[in-house]
Amino acid sequence: MILTEDLRRTFRRRGAAVEAVRGISLRVERGELVAVLGPNGAGKSTLLRMLTTLLRPTAGTARVAGVDVVADPAGVRQRIGYVGQGNAGGHHHRVLDELVTQGALYGRTRAEARRRAGELMEALELRGLERRTVASLSGGQRRRMDVAIGLVHRPGLLFLDEPTTGMDPQARANLWEHITRLRHETDTTVVLTTHYLDEADAVAERIVVVDHGEVIADAGSAALRARHAEDRIELEVDEPGTVAGLVDGTVAGSRVELRLADGARVLPGLLARLERAGVTVHAAHLHEASLDDVFLALTGRSLREEGAAA
Ligand SMILES: Nc1ncnc2c1ncn2[C@@H]1O[C@H](COP(=O)(O)OP(=O)(O)OP(=O)(O)O)[C@@H](O)[C@H]1O
Ligand SMILES: [Mg+2]
Repeated sequence: MILTEDLRRTFRRRGAAVEAVRGISLRVERGELVAVLGPNGAGKSTLLRMLTTLLRPTAGTARVAGVDVVADPAGVRQRIGYVGQGNAGGHHHRVLDELVTQGALYGRTRAEARRRAGELMEALELRGLERRTVASLSGGQRRRMDVAIGLVHRPGLLFLDEPTTGMDPQARANLWEHITRLRHETDTTVVLTTHYLDEADAVAERIVVVDHGEVIADAGSAALRARHAEDRIELEVDEPGTVAGLVDGTVAGSRVELRLADGARVLPGLLARLERAGVTVHAAHLHEASLDDVFLALTGRSLREEGAAA
């Protein structure tokens, strides 16, 4: 569904060159759900905007749904849905009219577009807002409306740039449930970006980490965690010095910390061993490696901190 080769985009800003995307070669098969992760300014939106024909690549090639983005942008647009990072939808239009019109723009009959709009209003909990103007919606309602616009023409390939930003947890869960169902029913291919790593972990079977305009990792979440992060076990004990001699850990106050793979499997045996040695363990904490740990290891930044800053 997507095939890029050495894709690049350079912006000129006050005479200086900003290399937003620096040679990305990517292949996405039909039916895949790929999450593109990366810190602010990594080049995620620039990549998506080239794939959706909103930006012309500076160099390299990209085929989307079998169509070249430069040679036939209109052909690409016919085949995709795109929810950008900003809001879509005419401010003064009414919610339902806007959805039906957008569906009709893609060549659906008004009856078909109306049916699809109804389904989406239900799935994304926009019921009751049919006659409201887009401008009068709350931030989270607008974001749900944006997603509905991206889906109204039933695209086989869907690009979502931070679709859940501004949504409450229930709305986020509903959206992912809808996307998951859509994939099962229609084999839709989805490429998304998000700053919520728990979401990426839960919905994406493939994670592409982008930093400074380049792909620095591309694998499933479990593989990434195994490769780039460790589990951590923290024990609270009376005599940490003795324990550190028994296990391979470091002492911090009354705590001993161990870093290892597969902590959940190691922990029971570890506790049994310490008990046999006569050590009293007051508490044992297991911190399993998270995607955030992977992110930190790969980019030197925590996405959680980034989210807070944003
Ligand atoms: N139109 C533009 N003109 C100049 N520079 C741009 C333009 N669009 C993006 N950039 C720069 O390109 C780099 C990548 O931006 P991009 O929006 O792709 O990042 P991102 O990964 O989507 O970040 P975020 O997580 O904040 O959305 C940044 O340094 C940004 O400032
Ligand atoms: Mg972006």
